[in-house]
Amino acid sequence: MGEILGMGTTHYPGLTGTDEGLCSIWQKIINAPRINPRWKDEANWPDGMSEEIGADKGLSSAGEYRQRMWDSFQKQREIIDDFDPDFIVIIADDQYENFKEDIIPPFCIFGMDDEFEQEPWNHGFQANKENYWGEPYDQKIKFYGHREGAKYITSGLLERGVAMPYAYKLSNSPVLAHGFNYTVLYMDYDRHGFDHPIIPLHVNCYGSSVISAEGAFAHLFKEPEHDGLPDPPAPNPALCHEVGANLARVLADSPYKSVIMASSSWSHCFLSSNTGYVVPDFKSDRRMLEALKEGDYDFWRRRTMDEVEGAGHHELLNWHVLTGAMDALDRKPEIIDYAETFIFQSNKCFAVFPPE
Ligand SMILES: [Fe+2]
Repeated sequence: MGEILGMGTTHYPGLTGTDEGLCSIWQKIINAPRINPRWKDEANWPDGMSEEIGADKGLSSAGEYRQRMWDSFQKQREIIDDFDPDFIVIIADDQYENFKEDIIPPFCIFGMDDEFEQEPWNHGFQANKENYWGEPYDQKIKFYGHREGAKYITSGLLERGVAMPYAYKLSNSPVLAHGFNYTVLYMDYDRHGFDHPIIPLHVNCYGSSVISAEGAFAHLFKEPEHDGLPDPPAPNPALCHEVGANLARVLADSPYKSVIMASSSWSHCFLSSNTGYVVPDFKSDRRMLEALKEGDYDFWRRRTMDEVEGAGHHELLNWHVLTGAMDALDRKPEIIDYAETFIFQSNKCFAVFPPE
């Protein structure tokens, strides 16, 4: 029987850049042409927002926020090292990076080479921008894949009736999507290397907006365009739950010791119509957290796509795969941290679901 550790974390891209870059994003959002101009007036900000911005436009808050994130990543890293898995299934999204018009699968498992190098500062979200570690653009970082594990999982899912696509190489991007890469980079904050093999499991979290918005903020600057019907949606929470539950069953029957790790922040302000796209949807996040703590995974499973999209919970679909898995294993979480913010785009949750 396979041993499984569950984990929920984030790959918040802001942390790859400098603190100055980190606190410039909220200003870019407030000044975007499709944001209600009332947000430009401090008098209209919710309680606590001015305090977080402070006298330096959020620069000192950025440093404190970064430290808070690193502390949680470090705790999770120690838990992973102690568990010593054969591989980590990282569940994350692709924001018009590897998957483009040629194919947008709802899910995809990547069986990467045992060892491969990537240049995360030359490609992807952070290409040719200053990074927090001061590494050159052509810095090569070593990653480890686990093709046998990916084959085993995909075969097991197919046998259980889950139509799971798989890939052994990337198609439209020379690097894995940010959701996978940044998770590994943050787990290796002190740059000693991260030698745990990973099996990326992609979820098409952005659904009908993945092509039209090309990733993140484009819809705040121009009206999204599409001819005729909108593009097809993301896999809904019930489907993600089902895939996660079957993933857990496959791994529980396997010879492997594995981590099932969902990586994403919670409510994303720039996706949340409930809150006008400037601050995260605190109310929805708190309700999801409450259900998570209680192990009320059915509450998660029953969320509708309208609720997901209204709350900016697109990327939380990664966590819906995880909660489906933890439901099948009857696991409850320990919350390492839950951090809310007005100016760093998204609330973050760090959780671990220890094996019995
Ligand atoms: Fe993401």
